[in-house]
Amino acid sequence: MLHLMEPAKRAAELRREIERNNHLYYVLDQPQISDTEWDRMFRELQEIETAHPELRTPDSPTNRVGAKPLSKFEQHRHLVPMLSLDNSFSEAELRSFDERVKKGLGVTGDIEYHAELKFDGGSISLTYIDGLLEVATTRGDGVVGENVTPNAKTVRGIPLRLQKPLPGTIEVRGEVVMFKEHFKWINEKRAARGEQVFANPRSAASGGLRQLDSKLTAERKLNFFAYGLGAVRLERGTRPGSEVSTDEGHEGSPIEGLPNTQNGLLQFLKQQGFAVHPDHAVLPGIEDVVKYVEVARSKRASLPFLIDGAVFKVNRLDQQEELGFSNRGPRWAIAFKYPAEQTFTKLNAVLLQVGRTGVVTPVADLEPVQISGVTVTRATLHNWEDIGRKDVRVGDTVIVQRAGDVIPEVVGPVLDKRIGDPPLPVEPTHCPECGAELIRSPGEVAIKCPNRHCPAQVAAKLGHWASRGAMDIEKLGWKTIERFLELGLLTDIPSIYRLKDRRQEMLELDRMGDLSVDNLLQGIEESKHKPLDRFIFGLGIRFIGDRGAQDLAREFKSLQAFREATYEKLEKIPDVGPRTASELSLWLEEEANQKMISELQELGVKPVEPDKPVSDVFEGKTFVFTGSLDKFTREDAERLVDKLGGKAAGSVSKNTSYVVAGPGAGSKLAKAEQLGVHVLDEDAFLEMVPPELSATLQGK
Ligand code: IVH
Repeated sequence: MLHLMEPAKRAAELRREIERNNHLYYVLDQPQISDTEWDRMFRELQEIETAHPELRTPDSPTNRVGAKPLSKFEQHRHLVPMLSLDNSFSEAELRSFDERVKKGLGVTGDIEYHAELKFDGGSISLTYIDGLLEVATTRGDGVVGENVTPNAKTVRGIPLRLQKPLPGTIEVRGEVVMFKEHFKWINEKRAARGEQVFANPRSAASGGLRQLDSKLTAERKLNFFAYGLGAVRLERGTRPGSEVSTDEGHEGSPIEGLPNTQNGLLQFLKQQGFAVHPDHAVLPGIEDVVKYVEVARSKRASLPFLIDGAVFKVNRLDQQEELGFSNRGPRWAIAFKYPAEQTFTKLNAVLLQVGRTGVVTPVADLEPVQISGVTVTRATLHNWEDIGRKDVRVGDTVIVQRAGDVIPEVVGPVLDKRIGDPPLPVEPTHCPECGAELIRSPGEVAIKCPNRHCPAQVAAKLGHWASRGAMDIEKLGWKTIERFLELGLLTDIPSIYRLKDRRQEMLELDRMGDLSVDNLLQGIEESKHKPLDRFIFGLGIRFIGDRGAQDLAREFKSLQAFREATYEKLEKIPDVGPRTASELSLWLEEEANQKMISELQELGVKPVEPDKPVSDVFEGKTFVFTGSLDKFTREDAERLVDKLGGKAAGSVSKNTSYVVAGPGAGSKLAKAEQLGVHVLDEDAFLEMVPPELSATLQGK
C-alpha cells in the first residue's frame, strides 16, 4: 500500500491549500494565487480522487462543484427554529422598538445595538458536528426545512470544516445571495440559450439552493454571509435532530466559551472561516441606529449584492436572552426595510432618446408605476442588443427596477403574461431627430447619431452644461433651452455666453420680464468662474462623470494642460481606464471641440484651477474618508487634503496612507485593517491639520 501514501499526502496537502486559498479569496478578499493556479490544484486533487476513490473525504473541496443529483429533499428539523424579524419602515417605529427594549430590560439609559445589512437572498442553517459541516437546511416553515447539504457545499463563504473545530453541535445561520454581477452574467447566458431569465438575484439565489442537482447550484456561483447562531451544544458527537430541547441554545443566548456580544459573534464566525460582510457596526444608542439607516441606504446601490434593509440587534447577548422571543420573532432585533426597488408594469411603447454624445438609447414608455416612492413612467432599455437578448416586446408586462439613484431600467419581460406574439421592436437606422444615418463603432453595442448639430444632441449638451453638477445655471432649465434653441437664441454652448447681447429679443418673449432675464444673465455670468472639474464634467464627454472630471482636474491642474492631454498621458492616470482615455483623447483631437474651448475662453469663461497647495504637510500622502463623518463633510476634507499637497482617493489600497473613519464605517475600514493601513478618527485627522486651516472644516 506504499504507493497510496504519496497520493494521500498530496491530496491532504492540496485540500488544505485549496481551502486556505478559498478562505483568502472569498472571506478575506485577499487572493494570493491566480485563478489558473487554483484551477490547477483543483484539477490535480480531482484526478487523485478519481484514481483513488478511497481517498475522498466528505470535506474535500471537490464536493463543492456538485454531487450526485437528489430525487427529492429530505426534511430536516432545526434544533432551534428559524424565526423571522419584525419589520419597521420609519424612524418612529425604530424609536418605539428602542422603547420596548428599554422597558423589557428595565433600563433608562442608552442600549448598545449592533447594526447589520439585511441581505436579500435565501436563509440557510448550517449544522457543524465536531467542526465538520454535516447538514445544511433551508428555512422551510421555520421549524422544518429541506436538507440541501450538497448544494450548500457549492456556496462560497461556507466552510466545510471550522477553522477551530468545536466539539459538539453548532448551527450557523446566514443568508445565501447571488451577486449582481453573477446575476447579470447568468441571465445573459440563459437568454442566449433561449431560457427564461431570473426575475431578480433573490429568487435566483433561493431557487439555486433548491436544485436537486448540485451541479446546477454550483453554476449559479452563490455566496453566503453569516449573521448568527442557532443551537450551540458543545458536547462531543451530538447528532442533529436528537434530544431536541427547546430551551437550550436559542439564537442570542450567551454560551460559555463563546463571545458575549453580537459583534463578537460575527468576529467569531469570521475566525471560524465564514464570510461575514464587513459592513456591520456597534452603535452606542438609538440615535446612531437612526443614522445607520441612511448610511446603509447610501451604500445600497454600490454593494455587489442586494440588500432590502438593515437589521438592528441588541448587542449584548445576555440582554438578548433576557428579552427573549414573541410568537413572531426575537424581541431583541428589528429589521428596517427599504422600499422595494422592483415592480411590474406594462410597456406601452419603445421611444428613442438622443443623448448629448449622440448615442441613441431605446427608452421604455411605461404605464405609470410607483417604485420606492417615485412614479416611474420611463425606464432605460439600454441598447438594442439588450432588448433582443431579454426578448422585450411592446405590450409586455415588464419588471422595472430602480436601484438607488440609478436610472430606472427594464429588467425583462414576464413571459407568462405575454399576450399573443408581438414583434420585437425594430432597431432604427436613422436618427429620429435629424434623420442622419446612425452609426455603430466596431465592438460597441451603442448606436450613434454622427451629426453634431443634431438638435436633440445640442439640447442635451446644453442641458448638461447648465445642470447642477456642471455649471449650475439655475435659470437655464430644459424648457428654456428648448425654447431658445427653436428661436435660434442658442445654437451651442458658447452661444450661452452671447445671450447678454440678445437681451431685447429675450424680453419680447412670453413670461420673460426684466427680472427673469437679469437672473438668467447673472447665473450665466457666475458660471464663467466655476471650478475646473465642473467645466470638464460640463463638456459632456462620454464616460467622464463628475468623479472622473475631479480626477482629471486634480491631475492636469490647468485647462491648458487638460486640452493638451494625450492618450499616453491619460492612460497613466490611476483612475482612468483605456476606454475613457481613448474616448477623451479622440474628443480632444477633434478640431471643433478645441475651437469650442477657445471660443469659451474668448467669451470670458475661465474655470478656477485647483488651489495650489498652501503647504506640503500632506505631500505624498493619500487619504480615504469613510463612514458617516460627524465633524466635517467628506468634500471639504478632501479639498483640504488637496490644499495641503496630499491626495484624496475613493478606495483603499496598499498605497493609501490614512483611512479616516467615522461612525458606521464598513468595508473600507475593514480593508484598511486587513492591509495594515493607518486608521484615524475625525479628531486625529483634525490634529494633523495646521490649526489655522482646521477651522475651515468645522461646523458641519
Ligand atoms: S437575524 C431570529 N440578520 O431576514 C432572527 N436576518 O426577515 C434571525 N436576514 O429570515 C434573523 N439579513 O433570512 C438576521 N443580518 C441579518 C439578516 C437577516 C437578512 C433575513 C433572514 C431572515 C429574514 C427576516
